Amino acid sequence: MNLTLQILNDAQAVAGCAADLIAAQVQEKPDSRLLVATGQTPMATYEELARRAESGAVDFSRAWAVQLDEYSGLAEGDPRSLKGWMERSFVVPLGVGNVLPLTEPAAYDRELAALGGIDLAILGLGPNGHLGFNEPPSPPDAPTRAVQLTPESLASNRAYWPGQAVPTGAVTAGMSTILAAQRVLLLVTGEHKRDILQRALHGPETPLLPASFLRRTALTVIADRAAWC
Ligand code: F6R
Repeated sequence: MNLTLQILNDAQAVAGCAADLIAAQVQEKPDSRLLVATGQTPMATYEELARRAESGAVDFSRAWAVQLDEYSGLAEGDPRSLKGWMERSFVVPLGVGNVLPLTEPAAYDRELAALGGIDLAILGLGPNGHLGFNEPPSPPDAPTRAVQLTPESLASNRAYWPGQAVPTGAVTAGMSTILAAQRVLLLVTGEHKRDILQRALHGPETPLLPASFLRRTALTVIADRAAWC
């Protein structure tokens, strides 16, 4: 197992540490392909990176934002689009120069392969152990594909869109794409993630908990104390 674990006081400290790692990746390789999660956990990290980009401390203009997942069946411009969320929170504020959207799985995999794959995957941990929308059960070779969201994911996604319905289908970068990343950064905050994080790191590797396969990667976990002890 190639695991680096950082347990920090709170979510703000997690954001600072994660921003250090992502900025260092882009300073070392300006055209890095970054797999970009949305969801609540990485937002403070993206805000911190936006401050650094604005001050000129780091330049994302040659980097790639590779979309991790998207709901199915949304009309163009639907405010629930995860691509829209990625653009508002990451691409625009950081000044990221290139975007690989996820609409059609085969085209996405082809274009990502032509680019050379993912340098750094920035991930959150689903309450059911999902990565992107690789819902349980997802084996390590699960490809980029259309999926149906589980009841747990529908429930957690409801918090993103108050008063609106959560789409029930999605497309997700496959487990195979995530596990092939050169490095993976898993961000975990809050007491409600404590049990699933322990199982992901110390339980058996199983398709029933897709995040358990991250131990096969060069993995950095940055978590707050609430999610750890
Ligand atoms: C978001 C995504 C999801 C989230 C996960 C954690 O693009 O792919 O896998 O990362 O559900 O969500 P939060 O961070 O809201 O707890």
